[in-house]
Amino acid sequence: MTINKIDIAAGCFVILVGIYLIAQAPAPLADESEIKGVKIHVNTLLKLVANENNKARTLWTKRIVVDGKKAGLKFGEDWRKKGIDEGPLPALFLRETASLLEKSPIPLSLFLGSDFPISQANKFKGNQADFFESMRQTGDSQFFFDDDVARHTAMFPDRVVVEACASCHNKHLDSPKTDWKMNEIMGATTWAYPKEYVTRDELIFVINELRGAFSTAYTHYLDKTKTFKNIPSIGEQWPKDGYHLPSGKVFMSRLEILSASDTLKLLLESDRKL
Ligand code: HEC
Repeated sequence: MTINKIDIAAGCFVILVGIYLIAQAPAPLADESEIKGVKIHVNTLLKLVANENNKARTLWTKRIVVDGKKAGLKFGEDWRKKGIDEGPLPALFLRETASLLEKSPIPLSLFLGSDFPISQANKFKGNQADFFESMRQTGDSQFFFDDDVARHTAMFPDRVVVEACASCHNKHLDSPKTDWKMNEIMGATTWAYPKEYVTRDELIFVINELRGAFSTAYTHYLDKTKTFKNIPSIGEQWPKDGYHLPSGKVFMSRLEILSASDTLKLLLESDRKL
């Protein structure tokens, strides 16, 4: 029953985006830059990828890590090592996605940093440290051109969205801060792209590549579980129902439904602004 609803909703989203693309597709004119909607500011692209990533991060943390631990699955820092029957922690799922993006044809980069990091490699430096300081004071996302790396950059607050974020960091031996609380800003997901404007086609390509990266990161985890001593069943069910994991298709359908309405809203807003 739930799966049918999910499939129907995913189908509706594809149709909606399809209609949007066909209905809005501009006829070729002499000067493309003058066509309404063709030039989309990089900030829209960065907001879109951040929205997709927030949904993936929360889905991974709540529905796989937190529910999975209750069902007997384990998650840790050494998940890649042979003989360790674990999956990636939330930050490592994100890093897996980031390294897949690096290998993809799109020049989009992703970094998760903090001013109180568990891993020193995640400490913000240079311009990003200054903008993160403003975020700490105002709670607002930051958009700027980072001349340290010559890229248009956006930093979005990464908050304690489930109790598990705070409790794991507070207990961690390398954590310089041990009193993280619900909803507090723990760090920032930082996205960067080289161009100030993109076309609609480029934007759609970026979203598809990012979704492809989530899907591959999830598949890497499923592949790892197949080497476990106690292999979870993979199919329609989620860890909340027991020692199960959703297949890649089921995981991605849920993610697409979660991001669909905000993604479509941002796409439509990008048209109105020009
Ligand atoms: C079970 C433990 C665990 C959970 C749950 C967890 N984290 Fe982490 N987190 C870590 C570890 C360990 C690292 C360092 C990983 C690395 O880069 O080597 C990390 C890294 C981070 C970083 C990068 C800065 C740093 O501390 O190195 C941020 C920001 C972060 N986590 C936020 C969160 C948020 C937000 C959540 C909840 C959605 C969360 N974490 C859930 C263990 C956890």
